[in-house]
Amino acid sequence: MLAYNVYLIGFMGTGKSTVASYFGKKHVVDVIEMDEAIAKREKKSITDIFAENGERYFRDLETSFLKELDAKKNLIVSCGGGVILREENVQLMKKNGKIVLLTASPEVICERVKNDNGRPLLKGRKNPEAIKMLMDERQKKYEEAADITISTDGKSADEICEEIMNEIKRAKERE
Ligand code: S3P
Repeated sequence: MLAYNVYLIGFMGTGKSTVASYFGKKHVVDVIEMDEAIAKREKKSITDIFAENGERYFRDLETSFLKELDAKKNLIVSCGGGVILREENVQLMKKNGKIVLLTASPEVICERVKNDNGRPLLKGRKNPEAIKMLMDERQKKYEEAADITISTDGKSADEICEEIMNEIKRAKERE
């Protein structure tokens, strides 16, 4: 049982959902998939929300969702890749949790997302160069938000979860 939440952030395709699901089973922590929860509530896919309501509307939904988690603990939350775009979101996550940044190379990300059409911001950008450009634009925000950073390239979900737990313990000891 964790007395706080673990928020997984990182670019699309860095493995946040896979890691969250594995972590939830391994450490008996409740798993929240933000995109999935938002899509379910809105009764439409993320692609349709972007197309019909616009990105700003989607970003507002992300912020409202994080506000609802305010009083909760023992959650691992797989956040949408753009959650760090708003400083308010970062502060909400920091209030009751640790923020873990997952990273992967543009090449690995490209491989993972190439057959997926559910990410509107990657439309027409499914090549390592375009992915790297968008990643670079966001890099500073990811780094500033992260309490812990873990590279996922070549690692299993089990290894990543082990690293997350060890790093969180270390970070807690430093507090
Ligand atoms: C986005 C990432 C997506 C989803 C939306 C926008 C982004 O989530 O929230 O398409 O801005 O990086 P994943 O990172 O889970 O793919």
